[in-house]
Formats: sequence, C-alpha cells, structure tokens
Amino acid sequence: MEIDLTSMPPTKLEATPTSPAFWSAGIRYARSERGTAPVFRMGTDNMETSFTDNYDKSFLLDTMMGPNAMRVTEELASFLPIEEGMRILDLGCGMGISSILLAQKYKATVFAADLLVSPTNNYKRFASLGLADRVFPIFMDATKPLPFAAEYFDMLICVGSFHYFGANKEMLPHLLPCVKRGGHIGVAVPGLKCDLSDDAKEKLPFDIPNVGLYSLSWWQDLWRMEGAIRLGICREMRCVREAWEDWLTSQSPFAQQAVPEMLASVVKYFNLVQMIGQKI
Ligand SMILES: C[S@@+](CC[C@H](N)C(=O)[O-])C[C@H]1O[C@@H](n2cnc3c(N)ncnc32)[C@H](O)[C@@H]1O
Repeated sequence: MEIDLTSMPPTKLEATPTSPAFWSAGIRYARSERGTAPVFRMGTDNMETSFTDNYDKSFLLDTMMGPNAMRVTEELASFLPIEEGMRILDLGCGMGISSILLAQKYKATVFAADLLVSPTNNYKRFASLGLADRVFPIFMDATKPLPFAAEYFDMLICVGSFHYFGANKEMLPHLLPCVKRGGHIGVAVPGLKCDLSDDAKEKLPFDIPNVGLYSLSWWQDLWRMEGAIRLGICREMRCVREAWEDWLTSQSPFAQQAVPEMLASVVKYFNLVQMIGQKI
C-alpha cells in the first residue's frame, strides 16, 4: 500500500473506504468549437464506460482507492469537451487511474496532483504504461497556494476527493485562477441523496463520515455563489453502483472489511454528484 492512511487527519480517516463514504457515481455533451459556448445535448448514448470495462482489471483493483475512479472519470469526461493535447489538472488523483484514463483515452496532458500518494510511485506507474511524457505526477495540497501559472490549465478535474477540501465557498475562487477563461472544472464527488438533519443521521444504520457529504442541490447552491463560473451539467451520476461493486472485489483491506450490505446502503442513501462549471 503506497498511501499511509494513518497520516490523514481524523476526518479523512473516517471517510476511508471502511465506511460507505466513497462511491464514486444522460445527457450528451456535444463538442463545440474551442472557445465558444458549450452545447449540451440530452441523451444517454455516450455515457457507457467501455474503456474502463476493457481495462486491465487487476491493475485497477490494485490502484483503486475507493469506488472505481476510472469508471467515474470516464462518465464525468463524457460531459466535458476534452480534446487531444489539452492540459488538465487532475487534483486529488490518488494513484492516478483518473489521470491514466484522461491520457490514454483522450490523449490529454495531465498533471496528476495529490497530497498523500507519493509522486515517485505515481511516476513509476505512469512510466510503466508509457505515459511518462504525458502524465506528470506532482505533490500538491489544494488548500495551499497554487504552484501553477495563472490560466495554465484548459481544465481541472477532481474525482473522489473534492469533498475533502472543497465543500466551502473559498475553494472554487482559490482554484479557478489556474484555469483558462472558457476552461472547465469537472468534479465527481460522493454525496447524499438528500441532506439529513442530525436527528435523521442518528437513525441511520451506519455513521455518516464527517467529510463534505452533501446532496446535489447543496453543491449546486454552493457553486451558484461563485460568480466566475457558468454552471454546466450538474447531476447524479449513473455509475455509482457499478463503481462501488468494482471496488468491493479489490484486495484492499478497506474493501475487504466492507460488507455486501454496505452496497445496499450506498445505493439507498448515497450518490455521486457531478458538478461542472465553465470559467467565465
Ligand atoms: C479517497 S482518495 C481518492 C483518490 C482518487 N481520486 C481515487 O478516486 O482513486 C482521496 C484523495 O484525495 C487526496 N487529498 C485529500 N486532501 C487533499 C488536498 N488538500 N490536496 C490534494 N489532495 C488531497 C488524498 O491524498 C487522496 O489521495
């Protein structure tokens, strides 16, 4: 195991995959001319995650840090205007399976940034896949000043990690300077089907981890407060069950502790929230 979970602050530890707090989750995004307003088209035909279905399963099982981030990224990416050669920041990438998807499926140039997973190990992994010149592993703490030039990225993606640091009104304005005008920020975050009062939480058959787990409407209200973005397609993701099932078959000690009943709770109470914004 390359990540030392014991070094995570308590709130983060509570949300490790021993609890049902990690799941990751049809509308069609029609490619628009670069620089013009995006065109969204309703539909379900481009949301299949066949790249993930056909990927080396044992590799994914070894690198998942929760419900299958490659699958979640593939669904999220189907709503984004990703083009070959785009420079993308993959924030909170963990062991980088989201970055690998972006580099291999879309031929994007990816900066794979994470706080707790070693960039050296990520580099070895990317190099072993022939991606050393397309995926650049870096250490980054999203809560600290950004180590990037202004407007450096075409896009910022964050899968399965934004809830650790981004459930507040400060994070979007903090991150947006490194994204080009007209560029997108796409987040897939575990969330709740609806926001619960403390009383309601007490009655649940499990503890809700104390990380930023909120409903889709909570996230939308938060992002609407940010004047520098235009909200794109925000929705509950379709792949929540499949991404969770993928992960339950992994040898991770966290996944091994998970009980099948957890999946029922996941599907009943939790979802995956997709948030997309375009920098104005
Ligand atoms: C549950 S893991 C998910 C990793 C990966 N995205 C995935 O889904 O497999 C959450 C990740 O968020 C990262 N993270 C948490 N807080 C962070 C911060 N302040 N800045 C950057 N990364 C952070 C952790 O290091 C961890 O790798």
